[in-house]
Amino acid sequence: LPIGILVSGRGSNMEAIAAAIEAGEVPARIQAVISDRPEARALELARERGLKAFCLAPGEYPSRQAYDLALATALKKEGVELVALAGFMRLLGREFLEQFPGAVINIHPALLPAFPGLNAQRQALEYGVKFSGCTVHFVDAGMDTGPIIAQAVVPVRNDDTPETLAARILAEEHRLYPRVIKWLAEGRVELRGRRVIVRS
Ligand code: GRF
Repeated sequence: LPIGILVSGRGSNMEAIAAAIEAGEVPARIQAVISDRPEARALELARERGLKAFCLAPGEYPSRQAYDLALATALKKEGVELVALAGFMRLLGREFLEQFPGAVINIHPALLPAFPGLNAQRQALEYGVKFSGCTVHFVDAGMDTGPIIAQAVVPVRNDDTPETLAARILAEEHRLYPRVIKWLAEGRVELRGRRVIVRS
């Protein structure tokens, strides 16, 4: 499965996906890693792995729609069939999503629908939940609202800070995201309304 990964920062999920593919665990190929920020460490990490990696900066486009269209066009040009958002800090509009129907996924560091948006780990601690985790979901035009494909759970500990909780969740993200891409590459994922069925 030819995939594209959209990033904005650190790139640890991109690394986990790339490593799983290199290890032969996921039948996919990373065609391009694209960042909306030129300084993203993810771009360097991708290049070190020999992946095609470049920045498309929103500031260089006249509108959000123009940017979304340029992003979609770049991914199409690379032959991408699945778009994985990995710490990509922008909402994608309909112009983009229409180009990749049912083929855009995201990972979020909370058990959605709890704690969407920014600082999910801090939100979970402040709310006082005893478990949190991560969610891989299809992307729709909302903020972290699309159909849920898979989740992993971690306990919240008494002495957790946002940083310690984030680290525990991140370890699960790095296992869950490659696994979901494997399921998609194997054609085992089916959308029934809002429910996602993964065939065994
Ligand atoms: C992850 O916690 C992910 O769940 C969230 O943004 C963070 C990205 O981290 N969407 P990285 O860039 O993959 O290291």
